[in-house]
Parts: sequence; structure tokens; C-alpha cells
Amino acid sequence: MFDIGDEEIAAIADTLHKKLLTRFQGGKDGYLARAERAIAEKMGSKYCLMVNSGTSALSCALVALGIGPGDEVLVSAYTWIATPLAPMLLGALPKLVEVDETLTMDSIDLEKKISSRTKAILCVHMANLPCNMDAIMRIANAHGIPVVEDACQAVGGLYKGKRLGTFGKIGCYSLNAYKNITCGEGGAIVTDDPELYDRCRLWHDCGTFVQEYDAPVKIPHFAGNDFRASELQGAMICVQLPKLDVGLEALRAKSRALREYFQSERPDIGIMPHNDPESQANFGIQYPTREALLEAHKRNENLNALLDTAGRHIFTNWVPLVERRTYRDDINPFLNSPHGNEYHYNPEDAPRTLELLGRTMTFFFPWDQDPKDTVEFYKNFVP
Ligand SMILES: Cc1ncc(COP(=O)(O)O)c(C=O)c1O
Repeated sequence: MFDIGDEEIAAIADTLHKKLLTRFQGGKDGYLARAERAIAEKMGSKYCLMVNSGTSALSCALVALGIGPGDEVLVSAYTWIATPLAPMLLGALPKLVEVDETLTMDSIDLEKKISSRTKAILCVHMANLPCNMDAIMRIANAHGIPVVEDACQAVGGLYKGKRLGTFGKIGCYSLNAYKNITCGEGGAIVTDDPELYDRCRLWHDCGTFVQEYDAPVKIPHFAGNDFRASELQGAMICVQLPKLDVGLEALRAKSRALREYFQSERPDIGIMPHNDPESQANFGIQYPTREALLEAHKRNENLNALLDTAGRHIFTNWVPLVERRTYRDDINPFLNSPHGNEYHYNPEDAPRTLELLGRTMTFFFPWDQDPKDTVEFYKNFVP
């Protein structure tokens, strides 16, 4: 999360003073419509739809692609549970794809996991780490499978000069309080495809007209949810968005400083590889084994805070997924069909991911910290 200050307060106050709280009240010149135009422009996409969360954005994306019962969606094994739950809640089977040393989807494993049932690839740009989009798009195009990018943790990030979320058919962003820019809770999708955009619009607003001021939905209306965002969310994003590149650049400066320090002063420590070092806004180190990491950090009290091995991004901890439980068994009969039953999100389903996470440390640093202080902290942190 980058800076929040007087401008955000003024924008929210303005919304309240005007008593224009919903998209319909705000209209074409409202904050929400302006935020969507600004996000689309910044990302280089034709269309943007703001919704109430990144989870809703993922649901819109998969519905737009027609994902449903019996389909398989290939999902990065390192992510937050919202990613695999999106296909699971639509009756599809999320299948894990290993990550490689960059902690993003391993393209070799991706190709191995593709089957005749695979209907979408859901790759995840975790913690501002971009996936290898050249390889993923090459494989997806060769097999004619659409790609959805979960860029919830990488809003505004770049891969070879292009914004994350704009390589596949649809990109999904989260705007919750832990993300690069925020409106408390919120999300957005971006796409260049007018029909996918229309399908997202219908799914997010009870299958009705959603933006009376904008182009009408051109496809038959189908039943949808209410995933609508409000003018308050739009107001905050209008103010947050111009700060996005400044904040990302600040993260990049710290990544560069850490890289320089570790390369020159600590050749004994392995640096985590990155798919686009030019745009790197994160930094990590990798030990040869879990044992080596634990030995090196045996007196480090802060170790658990920096390791993702015990935490919420580890697929073996995702109880509803591991136990394959929706609120009623017949919501997703596929999970309990003979085919679905073969898959239990066991450690054996993505062993390399668990092994890599067990010996990798990704470093977190406040965007407004001086790069020298970041280096100083990690200098002392890594024995
Ligand atoms: C990788 C990833 N995908 C999806 C989501 C879901 O976003 P939200 O919390 O806005 O629903 C998150 C949120 O933490 C996330 O980290």
C-alpha cells in the first residue's frame, strides 16, 4: 500500500457531500467511471470494470470465458486461496501447476498438466513477481487455451515494459488494503475484448444494464451476482492511481540496492531469479536446501514473518480446497466425481513448489523507506 493522505480524504468527502454514492448516481463523470477510464489507460487496455474485490474480478473473468462444471483450470500452486476458489465455485476443478525458482508458474509443468479438459490457465503474479509471460502465452496459444492473469498482488507491475494483466484475455486486480493501491476493499478487470467485458458487466450486476451512460451490453442478459463497486471506491482509486508508478519505482530502487549489495558483498547467498530484472520490484534469496536456510537463521527471531512456508499462501493449508468442500456437495459434483476424486491438493500435487517455498525468502520493504535503510536491515537480517 502506497501513501494515503489528504487527497483521499478530500475525494471521499466530496463523494459524501454530493451524496452520489453508486455508479448510477455518479454517472459518466462520476468517480467510478473516471477511475475505470484511468485504469484502462494506465494499463493500456480497452476496457476496465471495477468490482468489489479481486475475488469478484477472478469470478467475472472465468464466467466471461464460460468456465463451468467439468472444466479444468490450471492455477499457480503459489497464490492466495481466492485464486483456486474462483474456478471451484463455478463447478470447475482447479489443478495446481508448480512454480519455478521465480515463484511464478513453471511453464514446463504447465505444458505437462494441460489435458483435453483444460479450459483456462490462471497464472499468478505473486508479490509483484511477474510470470514468464512469453513462455506462458506461447504454450497457451499453441494449445488454444485462454489465459487469465491474477495480478491482484502486482497492480501496475511490468513484464518487459508491458503492464501485468494485459497479456492474456483478462487481467484481474485487487484493490484491498494490502495491495499496491487501495480503496479498502475492491477489484478490477481489464480486457480488450468487448464481449468478455459485456459478460463481466452482466455477471457483476445481476445480469442487468450496468452503465447506462456507456455502450449498452450487446449480448443476451444472463443471471449474475452483485459485485458492484461504489463511488467511494472509485473516488479513492482516482487519487491512488497517479501514485502507482511512483510507489512501484520506489520499490524498484530498493530491489536494485539489495541486488547490488548481495551480488557484491554476499556471493555466498543465492539470489532468487526474476523473469524481468529490469522491472524488479521485489527481492528474494534462495538457499540450496531448507536445512541450510534453517541452519543459517537458527537464531533469527523474525524468521517466520519472512517465510511463506507455514502460511496462508501454501496450498496444503487451504482447508476448503484440500477437503474439497463447498457449502453443498452438489454445488460442484465434479469435485467428487471419479475424475475429480483423484485430486486432493496433497503435497505430491506440487512438491517442487513446497520445496522452493521452504528455502526461499522474499523480502518485504515499505515503499517509503530509504533504500540504504532497507539494505541495512537485510544486511543484519541475513547472517
Ligand atoms: C493472489 C491473489 N489473488 C486474489 C486475491 C483476492 O483479492 P481480494 O482480497 O481483493 O478479494 C488476493 C488477495 O489477497 C491475492 O493475493
